[in-house]
Amino acid sequence: MQGRPTIAVIGGTGDLGSALAKRWAAAGYPTVLGSRSKEKADAAAREMNASHGSAVSGEDNRTAAAKADIVVIAVPYANHEAILNEIKPAVTGKIVVDTVVPLVPPKVSVVQLPPDGSAALRAQRLLGEAARVQSAFHNVSASKLKSGESIDCDVLVFGDDKDARAIVIDLANAAGTRGIDGGPLANSIAAEALTSVLIGINRRFKVKGAGIRITGIPTGQPRDPA
Ligand SMILES: NC(=O)c1ccc[n+]([C@@H]2O[C@H](COP(=O)([O-])OP(=O)(O)OC[C@H]3O[C@@H](n4cnc5c(N)ncnc54)[C@H](OP(=O)(O)O)[C@@H]3O)[C@@H](O)[C@H]2O)c1
Repeated sequence: MQGRPTIAVIGGTGDLGSALAKRWAAAGYPTVLGSRSKEKADAAAREMNASHGSAVSGEDNRTAAAKADIVVIAVPYANHEAILNEIKPAVTGKIVVDTVVPLVPPKVSVVQLPPDGSAALRAQRLLGEAARVQSAFHNVSASKLKSGESIDCDVLVFGDDKDARAIVIDLANAAGTRGIDGGPLANSIAAEALTSVLIGINRRFKVKGAGIRITGIPTGQPRDPA
């Protein structure tokens, strides 16, 4: 891969997906918005380009995944499995970044563990070992990302492939957050569960973007130094 990798955001018309896409496009990553409808993706890309002068394109989800080097999944948990099955043929050998939190309405502020252990482990099971599944961005709110400012928030990155984790940490940094190596994919449930805690904090404190900050890491060493 020469230059910056192309990123496809599956669910790129949504709250989190569009906010991340805008930030990556602004940071110089070729970015493709994926949608169940190419027309909807095209319209979202046009709007983004008009307001931000970027060069984002729109595709149906599977074509977006096929065009990208890195595929980010930002769809509701209810549609996670269907979307993973749809894009599976297009992600062999690619880094797939799952942002999905296993929220089950109406009790989204209560941690509910999914049958696979976590959404990320479900993604790895459904996509198979040929996909380099990482998970991240569970604890940063779309509203903060949309603010356009640097964000006082850490993003924990999980995955069983250390090189891929480092690439996703770079993406978290490029989005204006601080990426932190959270270790293997099995640890993803910690961040996925924390989202329900943050939703509850948002409600109780009447705020939109409660997030997390890891303390004790020397400045300039955002990654696992080992
Ligand atoms: N929002 C946040 O602040 C935030 C923060 C951390 C993590 N997350 C996670 O990120 C994922 C996306 O969250 P979001 O808030 O961005 O969701 P959203 O705006 O409701 O949906 C994202 C996109 O998913 C697509 N989609 C596919 N199947 C769908 C269905 N059955 N119903 C509705 N939309 C469907 C839609 O795109 P098309 O119609 O174009 O296909 C939609 O624009 C979730 O798993 C969430 O837990 C969100």
